[in-house]
Amino acid sequence: MALEILKLLNILVLHGPNLNLLGQREPGVYGSATLNDINKLLEREAQALQVQVSIQQSNHEGVLVDAIHSMLGQHQGLLINAGAYTHTSVAIRDAIAAVNIPAVEVHLSNIYRREAFRHHSFIAAVAIGQISGFGSESYRLGLQALVSYLIKN
Ligand code: DQA
Repeated sequence: MALEILKLLNILVLHGPNLNLLGQREPGVYGSATLNDINKLLEREAQALQVQVSIQQSNHEGVLVDAIHSMLGQHQGLLINAGAYTHTSVAIRDAIAAVNIPAVEVHLSNIYRREAFRHHSFIAAVAIGQISGFGSESYRLGLQALVSYLIKN
């Protein structure tokens, strides 16, 4: 029975701006893994957890907002790295609050060890939790935490 419930879970993974350039973008900060590597890691982890993932990347705030709206009736959880929009976007924050679907915020870098402007996240207050600083592993840990939350709640 528990297994059947798990298979029904469909998680939306959203990657925000500039994350399409991972691998070549500031590798000293973000590591050498490409977005494709991270997506494969997520697909493997989803298979291990027996959930489904849909993955999208956009450099455009409105596209990310639309993707969050389209979760209604389709997805039960959101794993999001909003990139720089983390620190600027009231619209993405409001979209997550509006759909009221559990979200986990992830970052490759530890945003609290970086420039002061990265220390504030508009997403954090509407997320169930945040994982920051473990490189690609942040995504795997985030997916595990989200699925564990969804099973229990
Ligand atoms: C990031 C951190 C943000 O401050 C930055 O703008 C990014 C990536 C991260 O994953 O570490 O684009 O979200």
